Amino acid sequence: MQNKKTIVVVGASRGIGRAMVEQLAANPNHTVLALSRNTKAMEEFSELENVICHPFDLESGHLRQVAEGIFAEVESIDILINNAGKLINKPFAELSHDEISSCYQVNTIGVMHTVQAVLPKMLEKGGHIVNISSMGGFQGSVKFAGLAAYSTSKAAIASFTELFAEEYKDSKVKMNCLCLGAAQTEMLEEAFPGYEAPVSAEKMAEFIVDFALNSNQWMNGKVLPVSLTTP
Ligand SMILES: NC(=O)c1ccc[n+]([C@@H]2O[C@H](COP(=O)([O-])OP(=O)(O)OC[C@H]3O[C@@H](n4cnc5c(N)ncnc54)[C@H](OP(=O)(O)O)[C@@H]3O)[C@@H](O)[C@H]2O)c1
Repeated sequence: MQNKKTIVVVGASRGIGRAMVEQLAANPNHTVLALSRNTKAMEEFSELENVICHPFDLESGHLRQVAEGIFAEVESIDILINNAGKLINKPFAELSHDEISSCYQVNTIGVMHTVQAVLPKMLEKGGHIVNISSMGGFQGSVKFAGLAAYSTSKAAIASFTELFAEEYKDSKVKMNCLCLGAAQTEMLEEAFPGYEAPVSAEKMAEFIVDFALNSNQWMNGKVLPVSLTTP
């Protein structure tokens, strides 16, 4: 029997998200909803017949309704990967209210509203929600000066993962959170010019795709570091 899956990738226009869409779409049993603000950057996905692109801004005031409208197009959703992220690298004392707020809107609040919107499409059949956090948001990890808004908003989504899993533990919806170490993407290059990450966007995407497709059988509410650094 064919194992058809509908998979949503938020933050699909570049970096790890873009690589995930390409990898997921390589399986013809997958229908991939690719969501991002930059629709021009997603134009190449039109060559992939099982990818549907939608403009999507996590900072939109009506985010939940926008997401519900997009998700209404499909019968059910098996996997949601909350991959979009906003990083501001700036000394803590110089961060404006708007900058802190914007990081939280994209990295935390927007994710929570997207999850609210996806639930009606997931509760009956069950599914897996994967939140992409950062090692900087992982308790006890090495911290980087300048990332107060980014890393705390990523820590919040890790905490949300544990909370959600508890609240929905009797349902068939599972949620886990991956705290990524450095991967070579435009976000990393913009934030830390010249830094060379040990992992490519494609390799990181391979890990997340496999995790998203399979790990809900064994894990729920887990916050996992995905990093080559020790300890
Ligand atoms: N690369 C790393 O070293 C690293 C390390 C730890 C964690 N992470 C996390 O991994 C995830 C992917 O990172 P990446 O390096 O691939 O980042 P990236 O190259 O900057 O890509 C981020 C994606 O998020 C989307 N996005 C940003 N703001 C958005 C908004 N307001 N609404 C909707 N989508 C939005 C972007 O698309 P649009 O601009 O088209 O909207 C883009 O597709 C992020 O959550 C990041 O925090 C990355």
